[in-house]
Amino acid sequence: MRIGIPTERRAGQTLVSATPDTVGKLIKLGYEVYVESHAGNSASYYNDQYEAAGAVIAEQKDVWSCDIVTCLDTPPTNLLDAMKPGAVLISRLNPAANPELVKHLSDLGVTALAMDAVPRISRAQSMDVRSSMANVGGYRAVVEAASAFGRLFSGQVTAAGKIPPAKVYVIGVGVAGLAAIGTAKSMGAIVYATDVRSDVADQVRSLNAEFVPIPVVQESSDGYAKEMTADQAALAREVYSKYAIESDIVITTAQIPGKQPPVLIDADTVAKMKPGSVIVDMGAYANGGNCELTKPAQAFKTANGVTIVGYTDLPRRLPGQASQLYGQNIVNFFKLTTPEKDGQLVLDMEDEIVRGVTVTLEGQIMWPPPPVKVSVAAPAAPTPEKVEPEPVVKEEKPAWKRWWWKIALGVLAVALVLAAPEELAGHFFVFELACVVGFYVITNVTHTLHTPLMSVTNAISGIIIVGALLQIGSSNPVIAAIAFVAAVLASINIFGGFLVTHRMLGMFQRSSEE
Ligand code: NAI
Repeated sequence: MRIGIPTERRAGQTLVSATPDTVGKLIKLGYEVYVESHAGNSASYYNDQYEAAGAVIAEQKDVWSCDIVTCLDTPPTNLLDAMKPGAVLISRLNPAANPELVKHLSDLGVTALAMDAVPRISRAQSMDVRSSMANVGGYRAVVEAASAFGRLFSGQVTAAGKIPPAKVYVIGVGVAGLAAIGTAKSMGAIVYATDVRSDVADQVRSLNAEFVPIPVVQESSDGYAKEMTADQAALAREVYSKYAIESDIVITTAQIPGKQPPVLIDADTVAKMKPGSVIVDMGAYANGGNCELTKPAQAFKTANGVTIVGYTDLPRRLPGQASQLYGQNIVNFFKLTTPEKDGQLVLDMEDEIVRGVTVTLEGQIMWPPPPVKVSVAAPAAPTPEKVEPEPVVKEEKPAWKRWWWKIALGVLAVALVLAAPEELAGHFFVFELACVVGFYVITNVTHTLHTPLMSVTNAISGIIIVGALLQIGSSNPVIAAIAFVAAVLASINIFGGFLVTHRMLGMFQRSSEE
């Protein structure tokens, strides 16, 4: 079968539904690919690259008369009407909001597959164009924020002074939110993130960001948030507001399918934000967004110096990779629907992904598909009958058993001092006292500090060297030999200790090449 890749007609669309790389993959699946001349120019993919990948460069009418046409946006009616009955259109169609379009596709007798209706199940992730676009959009949101912020994201200590890192607050940790967190973290910012779905907390932490819980918790059975009650929304807004006021950048990505984007940041909060701070409202749509003041498709500065970015075309600002990801999603869909790799599309309506995207099948209206129920959170393990554990009672040892060795040591120490010759008794007492004090000091110092502590206390061995040097000249050869050995051992103790400390400190120093 022939696949047509047309030039996108929607104003401002910079993407193309296949890149030279994905064209090659479609050809490997057995298809012939016709690319409209210059269709990829705005994404920097040129005719010669498509030709090198095996595509035929064609005129508009030849592309639209192919067996299958893949594109990004709903094509204008004149192009749709050029499709032959029975042909297949693969595009983002938003069928839920476009009943007239569904009727028109049915009248044309075409099969229409909506790539923006891929169900949110793990098996379909590789075909989910919404996730691909949200991922690119989340990245671009941070780039836009950084550009409007006009300051560094990463903290620095320079000769001219200290620069604190930027604080970024992300509301809504879906695909776009996670991409924004990862990007902001990689640029050196401190990142906080909030979601009504508390099960995303671990994902936030895995990106080294801090999860900020809100007092409203939702369990999701389909991966999407539900609308909050007025009371819940008010409680949540207190958290959004507190963190937005403390942050330099706020990125909002909250969406509730089929509903208006919820307003999370009100005008009052914006008025309290620091001058120079930025809000990127990814939830911006024609009629509003996640911030009360958002102007869709525009960026502007409020009277108190907060920039609010409401661009609705973030992926279109990165057309090269966004096209590649979209094209790869299409390839993955073809892999599913071309089981024999023979260039023949097989639409199995028993497959929940294929059924989920089918809007019309050779003219027959198939929309809406039956709901696909998935549990995004791991299913709760069946709870076995609860058995109360036996309370563990720790047998208390009698006092004499716990203390006997300490008492015995004490008695021995006193006996040693009393039994010692008078001139040594004082030395024994100091020695025993040093043992007790040393024991309690060492056992109360954290393990990681033992090495530096020991190496410094080893220096006290210096006193042994002094003693040994005083005795080394003794006429008694035994005393001289003991003094010599004492001097050698004490030296090893002192210099070895400092050597170990020096090596440890070296581990914390940057080498000059870094
Ligand atoms: P998603 O559904 O994966 O994520 C949205 C997240 O927001 C979910 O985790 C949800 O639980 C959370 N959420 C919903 N209401 C919330 C609330 N009141 N408080 C806290 N969290 C809340 O959606 P995805 O794919 O990440 O897309 C996010 C948004 O970005 C969508 O509205 C999408 O249309 C938009 N988008 C905008 C682009 C642009 O150019 N402006 C480009 C791409 C996506």
